[in-house]
Order: sequence, then C-alpha cells, then structure tokens
Amino acid sequence: MRQEDNELLTRTDAGTPMGEMFRRYWLPAMLDSELPEPDCPPVRLKLLGERLIAFRDSDGKLGLIDEFCAHRGVSLWFGRNEECGLRCPYHGWKFDVTGQCTEVPSEPEESGYAKKIKLKSYPLREAGGVLWAYMGPPEEEPPLPGFEWTGLGPKHRYFSKRLQECNWLQAFEGGIDSAHVSWLHSADLHKDPLHRQTKGANYQKDRKPSFEILESDGGLYIAARRDAEEGHYYWRITQYIMPFYTMIPPYGGNALNGHAWVPIDDENCFAWTFTYHPARELTGHEVEVMDGGGGIHVKYVPGTFRPLANKDNDYMMDRAAQKAGETYSGIRGIAIQDASLQESMGPIVDRTKENLCTTDNAIILARSRLRKAALALRDKGQAPPGVAPHCHAVRPATYVLPDKDSFLSVEERALHAKAGTEPVAI
Ligand code: FES
Ligand SMILES: [Fe+2]
Repeated sequence: MRQEDNELLTRTDAGTPMGEMFRRYWLPAMLDSELPEPDCPPVRLKLLGERLIAFRDSDGKLGLIDEFCAHRGVSLWFGRNEECGLRCPYHGWKFDVTGQCTEVPSEPEESGYAKKIKLKSYPLREAGGVLWAYMGPPEEEPPLPGFEWTGLGPKHRYFSKRLQECNWLQAFEGGIDSAHVSWLHSADLHKDPLHRQTKGANYQKDRKPSFEILESDGGLYIAARRDAEEGHYYWRITQYIMPFYTMIPPYGGNALNGHAWVPIDDENCFAWTFTYHPARELTGHEVEVMDGGGGIHVKYVPGTFRPLANKDNDYMMDRAAQKAGETYSGIRGIAIQDASLQESMGPIVDRTKENLCTTDNAIILARSRLRKAALALRDKGQAPPGVAPHCHAVRPATYVLPDKDSFLSVEERALHAKAGTEPVAI
C-alpha cells in the first residue's frame, strides 16, 4: 500500500476524507449506563479526535458538547450538572444540552451576552442500550441505525466497550480476518464456555480456508470455506457493514456477536462488542461468563474501559501456557489475544511494508471500498454506503452445504435478519 493511502484510511480528524465520511454515520458513543439518570456526572468523551463532554440534564435530555468552557477554556468535566445545564465551576457560566450558553453571571442579563455564546454540539440519541452520536452536517443526519440488536429487549443483549490502544483500521481488519481464528484462537474454540462443543469449532481444524467475498448493500459478505464431511463445505459468513461494523460467524446455539471499531483519535479506538440473541433471552450462565471477561468480552482496570491485561503488563503473557498449548499465543481471552497483537503493530501500522496473501482478500476489498467511498464523498459529494438502516439488518451465519451449492443459496434465510427467527449456526 502507498503511504498516502495508509494516511487516507487511518486519519479521521475533521477535514480529512475518512473523518468527513465517518461523520456521515451515527457512531456508537457510549453505553446507556454511562449516563444513567438526570443530573448524573458528566462524562468525558473523545470521538474522531474531538474532545467532548456528554451529559444528561435535569429533564433527562442528552447533550454532547465541546469539552471546554467558552469563557477561558476550563474542562466542563468539572462542571456542576444542575437545573437543566452544565455550569462551569470557575466563574459560573452555564450551558444547555445544545451547547447554548444560558447564563454569564458577571454580565447584566439585559446585555444579551450569554445568547451570543454557543459551544459546538452534536446530537446524542438513545437506541438499543447505546447512546449514538452524529457529528456530521445537520442537514445530512440519517435515521438511527437498524441493527437487529437495537430492536431487542435488554434481556436479549449484552454490550461492552473496551479501549484499544491503536488505530481503528488495524483493529477492524482483525474483525474481517477469518483466517487467524484457526491459529490465534484455536485453543479457545475448544475451551471458552461460549464456543466449545460446537461442530463449527471442529471444522476450523482446516487451516487453509478459501474465501469468496461479495459486495452487500452496505458492505461485504465475507465467506470463508473449509472442508467438511465428504462432498460438503463448512461456510463461515462474516458481515462487514460500512464503515466499521463486523459480525462474527456464530457457533452452535450460542448468541451472535458483532463489533464496532470506533476511532477515539488516530492512535486509539473503542472496540465495542455486541452480544445478542434474536430468538431467546441470554442465560444467567452466559451473562456470568461475559461479566467475568469470557466469550469475547474482557475484564477492566476498575473504573475505566482499559482492559486489565494491557501493554503495560505485557497482556499477562503466560509462556508456560503458550508452550503447553493451553492458549496458542500465551495470552488469555479471545479479545485480548486480538488486542495484544494489533497493538503490537504500533499505533498506526506501516502498511507500505506488508506482504499480503490470498487470505487477506477481505481486507483488501474492505480497504478499497472505504477508500472509494471517502473519495467519492470528498470529490463528488456522494453519500457513503451503509448509512441507511436496512443495510444493518443482516446476520452472520455458519452452515454446511453440498460442495456444488453457492453460499448465497441460503442468503434469505441465513444472512438477513428476521425478527424472532433462529440464527443459522452450526
Ligand atoms: S472558564 Fe468557565 S466560567 Fe470562566
Ligand atoms: Fe480474533
């Protein structure tokens, strides 16, 4: 890859082609539990390189505004959230959820001084347990996303987010790289309580998958084919939805899993994990496993979204477990296995030095779709794919088919989300 393309794909500050494109989508910004009630503490939030403050006012309204007071730049994280606004504790200026300054106590009210002051602000909306931010031009604001899980009740879903200390793109690329599962996560497929004892885990012994990748409305269908019984193939279909959503092919009767890789800035991202089951509530056992950092969730440094196993402690590498094959890399936990290797590439991996091979086709096509869309927006003002809610109503799936059948022969039943129906998984 040329350095200029690496720059184009990885930089998401305002004014960059990719940054402007990301600003056309609703972004998963916070868990609803981060702003649980009116007048609760405000929360610092950095998204696409912009430092912001999120708060819920006395009426329960959500606000996402510039972090810094318009007077002399104090962080409003120190603010008092009271009487329908956030008041800066330095000199008492007050701002509402739209960023409008409502009070400058030192000036006479009739001067109208406060009315002239407004902080930058963005819409923040609640749907499906997530608070979504839209940072693009107001006239282009799309409807809220239509993921299957945004319509499910709280007992059907379990969401988490974790800090990943590298650029969003190399994290995302792990999510569409179906080939690494047979290596990095091989031991976990047979040990993790939410993966083991499924037929699918056994088929992954074939470490030479072939790929078929097709464009879907909002992204890509990434189909990995491995040998199954005589005359049959085992298919794993990953969904990629623009710009940064991936849905992982499921295992047996377990819940479905999806990710979003949301840039905090160019060297950090939030890895969101959405675990859900469209046809049943999650079991107490599943929730307990995930609370304990199992499945593809993690344990945290208390009070933060930083994983307990992180680069400062070498991700708690266990060389004995690596040697004994208890874990393939020596790192425990599927999510931390990914994070450790992706962070090890450096904050932004130098893609001019890569040597790609056939199993990287999904990555090549996703990069190309992202690049084309960002340039089409910049040069022709063309809206990017994957914004419309119907693009989100898809499912990942796993199945075995006779070797003469195309993986799309079961598209309608397996790859489209239909409320209340069982996912197709083996
Ligand atoms: S800096 Fe905020 S009120 Fe003065
Ligand atoms: Fe992985």
